[in-house]
Amino acid sequence: MLTNFLTSDHRDCDALFAKAENAASDGGFDAARAAYAEFEAAMARHLSIEESVLFPEFEARSGMVGGPTTVMRVEHEQMRAMMAQTRQALECGELDDFLGCSETLNILIQQHNMKEEQMLYPICDRALADRAEALLERMQAY
Ligand SMILES: [Fe+2]
Repeated sequence: MLTNFLTSDHRDCDALFAKAENAASDGGFDAARAAYAEFEAAMARHLSIEESVLFPEFEARSGMVGGPTTVMRVEHEQMRAMMAQTRQALECGELDDFLGCSETLNILIQQHNMKEEQMLYPICDRALADRAEALLERMQAY
């Protein structure tokens, strides 16, 4: 349940990212900037949902505070830093820099998402099964 919602949110963020990359490759910098801003907003929401709803709930339930959620929080910071660097390149109109940063960012995101989708989300689904509906509502309203 949580896995489905969060995995489909990953795919939505991916689609916005691809839109920004495609627009930049076509030379449409204004369109690329607009799409990238949308992507960053969607990512910011996604990361906040995890950090303020999912992770604290899982930590409280499992008692695992220095475990997988700590690793995920560190990776979120790496992704935020890379997203800012990528935006900077786009703002400066540096296409090669933007595409280079995008490639690195995409690798970071995909590796991170895979860990969440294949390990953390299913663990959370099991650990928080009795609260899944309430949690899902909080996530959707975020
Ligand atoms: Fe995450």
